Amino acid sequence: ALPESGSARWQAPSNIALVKYWGKKAGQIPTNPSVSFTLDSSATRTELRYRRRDQASGAPGFEVFLDGRPAPGFREKIRAFFERILPYQPFVSEYDFEVHTTNTFPHSSGIASSASGMAALALCLADLERAIFPGMEPERFTRKASFLARLGSGSAARSIEGSLVHWGQHGSIPGSSDLYGIRYPLELHPVFESYRDTILLVDKGQKQVSSTAGHNLMKGHPFAAERFKQARDHIDALQPIFRGGDLEAFISLVESEALTLHAMMMTSDPYFLLMKPATLQIIERIWEFRRETGEPVCFTLDAGANVHFLYPKESEARAYAFVREQLVPFCEEGQHLCDQVGKGAVSF
Ligand code: PMV
Repeated sequence: ALPESGSARWQAPSNIALVKYWGKKAGQIPTNPSVSFTLDSSATRTELRYRRRDQASGAPGFEVFLDGRPAPGFREKIRAFFERILPYQPFVSEYDFEVHTTNTFPHSSGIASSASGMAALALCLADLERAIFPGMEPERFTRKASFLARLGSGSAARSIEGSLVHWGQHGSIPGSSDLYGIRYPLELHPVFESYRDTILLVDKGQKQVSSTAGHNLMKGHPFAAERFKQARDHIDALQPIFRGGDLEAFISLVESEALTLHAMMMTSDPYFLLMKPATLQIIERIWEFRRETGEPVCFTLDAGANVHFLYPKESEARAYAFVREQLVPFCEEGQHLCDQVGKGAVSF
């Protein structure tokens, strides 16, 4: 039976891809598999309040609030999301919703909140589905949440579970699917369970190119086929690395993925460039530090100028001293976020 009213509350983490998703087909189907670290403290907390409508109409009614204030800027994105999930959750058209959301990181930080935001909302909607169909198994719940999250933002499919998540059908990854993310199903060396990610905020401005526009530029991109093959090869190459903890191999693969993502942007038509001078200066400092100290530190990038500085827990004291002395000066207003690999979403 449909509950008359109620609410669901979920906190979902952000994630940082090691093998990047860049390029998609209709229905938010990725053109290549990807794998990411789930983050811990960078997260979105969402409460979804729902109330039955007197009359069902084609689409649900909803209002969105960020930090307690109406956030009309998110309306269009959420409207499109509800439209996409309707075939998979037809009961939503019977409800009026209020989405109350807040991020644990500053929203002007240039940190993409779409992965954590869409994942938190998807979890709330899966929660409503479970209230309607109480027999829903935990595994089915998680899968449905990731499936719905994917329809909001592709990378959100990887923001439900921890600590390493794979998304995209791939022969050597058992249980993998284009439709939802799964916890990495193969052996994982403990060094990767406690990896650190210091996010260096180089440019807190709005993205000049939306990720949807970026994904679309992979259609007809001259290097697309090679890139998609490379991502698949990287997923395979990571298996022994994840199992054995070979950090040197990990570093060269992860940095190559980051630079390839940006190389795709620089060679698309139209081309664009998201790195800033400070992005390159930080990368050069990281390389210098690694060469001089031998610490297994590396960087990755998402679709923006900010740098994710990755290192194992064992390197934390030295790596963070280096951040403070040498990297923070390149950050906008010195801003950076200290995060680490996390365990996935939680209800609150
Ligand atoms: O989830 P989207 O559509 O915003 O795409 C994000 C893509 C990257 O962040 C650049 C890479 C990734 O795999 O997360």
